[in-house]
Amino acid sequence: MSRLTRRQFNHLAVGATAAATLPTVTRSETTPVLHAREGIARLAPAKYPETQIWGYNGVVPGPVLRARQGERIKRVFRNDLPQASSVHWHGIRIENAMDGVVGMTQSAVEPGAEFLYDFALRDAGTYWYHPHNRTYEQMARGLYGALIVDEKSGGPMVDRDEVLLLDDWRLNDKAQIADGFGNMHDWSHAGRIGNWITVNGAGRWSRDVPRLTRMRLRLVNTANARIFTLEARGLEGWVVALDGMPIEAPQSLSKLTLAPAQRADLILDVTAEEGEEALIVSRERADGYAIASFAVLKAARQTRLAKPDALPLNPIPALGSLENATRAKLRMEGGAMGGMRKAMMGGQVTGIRGLAAAGKIWALNGTVDKSDTPLVEASLGETLRIAMINDTAWPHGMHLHGHHFRRIGRDGALGPLRDTILMNRGETVEIAFVADNPGDWLLHCHMLEHSAGGMMTWLRVT
Ligand code: C2O
Ligand code: CU
Repeated sequence: MSRLTRRQFNHLAVGATAAATLPTVTRSETTPVLHAREGIARLAPAKYPETQIWGYNGVVPGPVLRARQGERIKRVFRNDLPQASSVHWHGIRIENAMDGVVGMTQSAVEPGAEFLYDFALRDAGTYWYHPHNRTYEQMARGLYGALIVDEKSGGPMVDRDEVLLLDDWRLNDKAQIADGFGNMHDWSHAGRIGNWITVNGAGRWSRDVPRLTRMRLRLVNTANARIFTLEARGLEGWVVALDGMPIEAPQSLSKLTLAPAQRADLILDVTAEEGEEALIVSRERADGYAIASFAVLKAARQTRLAKPDALPLNPIPALGSLENATRAKLRMEGGAMGGMRKAMMGGQVTGIRGLAAAGKIWALNGTVDKSDTPLVEASLGETLRIAMINDTAWPHGMHLHGHHFRRIGRDGALGPLRDTILMNRGETVEIAFVADNPGDWLLHCHMLEHSAGGMMTWLRVT
């Protein structure tokens, strides 16, 4: 990078005759830059060429941004992509103006332009960042990274802490990112499913690790549309957080499903024998293949550590009365085999042909894309419950901005705090949360072709 340090700057400034010739400084020189630009990555095996990607700071994944709970994150976002962009800080309870949603919380950051993101970190946990403009293309080209907030009170005792960003790429036979971002078959079916899976940009991510090492693994599904089903081999332990939020009691890990955008924090002990490999396996119907591997070295200790305590909970307000909560309903329809005949588009009732011609094949409450009026308007502190009805033939990962919610089980039991929930075809899911964050917040499917294809609404908290 060729940015001048202060010393060089002063050196050059010596001899300047008038202060007016100095550049106007609109931000601190020391604010770190998050720079979206083109880059090259070694995604595929060595016999293939390297892949041209778009990445934060030119790499994929982008840099891990890490800070402590209670601190602030401050970054100048500079866009050197050929398209307008923005940064959305996924899962963080953030001030609305910093949420990065183009056309809602900010205007697009045009090529060559900058935007200053500056926000407080109220919650600890595993979060991530990605664009919120043409997301289905920009994320598929490699724009994403992890945002890790360390617990204020100190985290659990682990020997290692690793971030694993899982992605699913669609590459052509030259290992380049395949075009066809507007492909209506993808949009109306499961989304852009790829043909090459990476962890942290590697076809098979690997590390050496002594036996009985205790690791915290932070898994993030950054794929456009792929649902990962994961298993661990030679690793035993617990799920301790979901979507950044600690769960009240660590749960033994068996199978783990991660919809797009979902995260899980695992605490795992390496129990495979010395000389073996411990694996994270992605299951695909009858098959399973290793996406991350740990070569097991001589033991680090004699016996396994004790079961970890739960992580310290984040300061999320408790739900108010569910009886008196404000209710809303969200009917999801459209897509292939969905039988949708018409929907509102731009204030007009439009038949399926007109919708399809505009690339809008999914609707929420009979409207494609976000309408002028919110799904629900809540006053600050109110408890909301939203019943979401998946009246389509496809699964969807529904994501709410600015808040975490709980699923209300059929027996009334509350599920863990999440910001994204996977809904199977035909399923109805009711969620509840306290609207404690003022502003306009999106609620959309995180299968990015589905949200681009219309599956998006919003709520207002005042
Ligand atoms: Cu991770 Cu609205 O997105
Ligand atoms: Cu969807």
